[in-house]
Amino acid sequence: MSARRVRDPDVLRISSGDPDLEAPSYVKEAAIKAIQEGGKYTHYAPADVTNAFQKAVCDYYSKYDVIYEPSQVNPTAGSGVGLYLVMAGLLKPGDECLVFDPTFGSHFRIPPELGAKVVSVPLNKGDFHLDPEEFSKRVTPNSKMLVLCNPNNPAGTVFTKDELKAISEICVKNDIIVLADEIYNEFLFDGHKHYAIAAIDGMKERTVLVMSFSKTFAMTGWRLGYYVLPKELESKWKAIPARVQPATYIIHAGTAALNGPWNYVEKACAEYDKRRKFFVNRMNEIKGVTCHMYEGAFYAYPNIKELKIPTAKFVQDFAAKEKVQISDGGSFGPVVAQGHLRIPLVKPVEVLETVTEKMERFIKSL
Ligand SMILES: Cc1ncc(COP(=O)(O)O)c(C=O)c1O
Repeated sequence: MSARRVRDPDVLRISSGDPDLEAPSYVKEAAIKAIQEGGKYTHYAPADVTNAFQKAVCDYYSKYDVIYEPSQVNPTAGSGVGLYLVMAGLLKPGDECLVFDPTFGSHFRIPPELGAKVVSVPLNKGDFHLDPEEFSKRVTPNSKMLVLCNPNNPAGTVFTKDELKAISEICVKNDIIVLADEIYNEFLFDGHKHYAIAAIDGMKERTVLVMSFSKTFAMTGWRLGYYVLPKELESKWKAIPARVQPATYIIHAGTAALNGPWNYVEKACAEYDKRRKFFVNRMNEIKGVTCHMYEGAFYAYPNIKELKIPTAKFVQDFAAKEKVQISDGGSFGPVVAQGHLRIPLVKPVEVLETVTEKMERFIKSL
């Protein structure tokens, strides 16, 4: 975040995508039982615990018409480390990594650390969908990877099948690997559907999937995620000599999470939808603010360009004056992201109501 954080303990923090919901009780029970049983659950992960997790992931992704082999699934301590590993495994100095503008910060912060160059592909202003021409005209002989955040954080875009087909065509033609960050795939609204890009012809062999339990099951503090590496990319992979596996009992709990019941996630999605409708509509009532009704994930991404105040300053002054810390949406990309705020709707409607009241009052005072 480019705006300086205000360190006041009374400040209401609604800036990080950390759900307020509790992890499912059946997942907690699986973890507790495993710890109490001890033995294999408290040592380095034995094959049967890892295999059960890998199989649960394969069963889960088969609902998107992608059939993975269990050995391709690698558990990681959160998907943040998964993003790093995949980029470090596949990017070399001088490679170009295409990312959307806007997108999650790690997508464009990691490649330069590896000597790779970031190339931003602007999403359309307003609806944050993709004009494939904007992607294809930025492809060069050095293009190595596209980071596809679907659904998108922060704009909530759920890419359509046609968009994914157009992206795939360009990737196949130019031999580009896709890092598919699909961690918000369960939070979709207004009938939008999640399509896994790996299910499109010619894509499974060039797509590395990165996933997380953080959002789907409100398990941010458990640190559990995974990446799925196609066999075809194994020879290009430069493994990192470090143990990045989650705790064994956490892997076991992840298997329980994926095996369901899934009504926990359905309820969470309905709650996020309620918050979305309330908050986005309320934002649009505030003079100088426009906010699109996002399609997926759980971030409101209001546009405040009309107010003619730098977003970093807005965020800082709002926190100082109204004691609400939100994120500077402009820090999610160089062009399209500019002029936006990002507010994760990870608080109940009553709290969000207070946020909107405070924001309205703050904007009137400008
Ligand atoms: C798009 C995206 N990918 C990855 C992550 C990392 O999440 P975690 O490390 O908790 O799995 C986040 C976190 O907000 C995110 O928004």
